[in-house]
This record gives sequence, C-alpha cells and structure tokens, in this order.
Amino acid sequence: MDASIVAALCSRAGQMAPAELRALRHVLGVAISGLDAEHSLPTDPRKLAAIRAIQDSLFHLTNYPGHIPDDGMMWTGRPAFVTDAVLAALQCRARAESVNKIRSGKHFFVECPAMLELLPPGALASFLQALEGGLQPRGKANLQYYEAPGECIGAHVDVDDFGLSGVMLLRHEHQQPRASRLWVFPRGQAPKVVELEPGHMVIFCGQAVIHQRTAVAAGEQVTTLAINISASRE
Ligand SMILES: [Fe+2]
Repeated sequence: MDASIVAALCSRAGQMAPAELRALRHVLGVAISGLDAEHSLPTDPRKLAAIRAIQDSLFHLTNYPGHIPDDGMMWTGRPAFVTDAVLAALQCRARAESVNKIRSGKHFFVECPAMLELLPPGALASFLQALEGGLQPRGKANLQYYEAPGECIGAHVDVDDFGLSGVMLLRHEHQQPRASRLWVFPRGQAPKVVELEPGHMVIFCGQAVIHQRTAVAAGEQVTTLAINISASRE
C-alpha cells in the first residue's frame, strides 16, 4: 500500500461511523500483516513511508481519547494485586481451560471472563482508576496459548471497539533461550521487544500500535491473559 493511498483512506475518518472505522482499521491491519518485527521494518523507502503513514493514521483512528505514548504502552510491570497465590490460581485455571482452546490463525485461544473472578474483588478496577482517570475493565477476558513450534500472532492491530487491553504473561516455559516475545512497533521508531515475566502485565493501546508475539520454538510454551479495558470518555 502506498502512503498516498493511506492518506486518502484516512482523510474522511472524522466523518466515519464506528463500523466504517472498524473496517478501515481492518484494511490497515491487512496492509501491515506481513511485517516481521524481529527482522526490522522494510528498507524500501516507499514501503517504509507507507508503514509510517499507517502508524500515524492508527493513532488518529483509535477511540481511546487520552494520550497514547508512541509505543502504546500505558503501564508495564507486575501489579501488586497479582500475588504469588493469585498468579498460581490464574495459571491453574488457564491450564484447565486449555482443553477448550480453539484455533485463531497461528495460535489458540479461549474466551474466559471467569479468569477475572480469580483476581481480588475490585483490585483490577482500583488499579486501572489509579493509572489514569476513567479506565475500567469491561468484564471480558480471554486466554492465548502458544504451545507448538511456530505458534504466534503476526504483526497486527486490534480491530475491536475498545481502546486498551491489559495483557498478562501467565506462563513462559523454555529449554533454550526464549524465542517468543511480545514486540511493538512504536510510531516513527524501530520495533522493540517488551520483556515480561509471569505475573507481569502491560496496559496497552493495541488499536493504535502494531504489535505481535513471535513464534515459540521447540520445547517452549507461552500462555497469556488478555483483558478488555475501556475509558469512560469513549
Ligand atoms: Fe493484539
């Protein structure tokens, strides 16, 4: 896709209905689906210009009304409410739910809002309110499983009607050095890896920033929990 086409597609975004915006994000998502974060952005000047135009456009298309850092990361770390006992309960339930997993592209997932019931009551909502006014959990959550060599999520942006996600690493087992990592493509910068340990969570605007999880190698297994977050101003 050419940068001028990106500009033309996005020029009427301000007048688009939510369904049209969702479709436009989907089109832009298809345009970046061939990116490979670990092997850098395109070197061809025209292709790189198109990617940069898409990155800028995505920031204007998100329905999250607050400030979004160039890398989309609103917060990274292990929340205090994720104690060792809470993490163990989340890991146990995720292991049990894996029998229900269904394929989505190159990985598997399970919709499982019941994971949120394993968190201390009100802890996630309080945590989000303290980060930036108006953030709150939507009550939706799903598990992602990467267990066979090659399982991954390619470079993409989230196309759902929510601005932010919380993504927690529940489990990362490996025999060799880790091959699978979360990568983000910050606006106007080189791609970068987000190092996570079990229990760590990112609060992240996946609607605005291209991201991916690279493939697990033989003997490597990853489980993550994604939590939908909304802003009261949406
Ligand atoms: Fe995503």
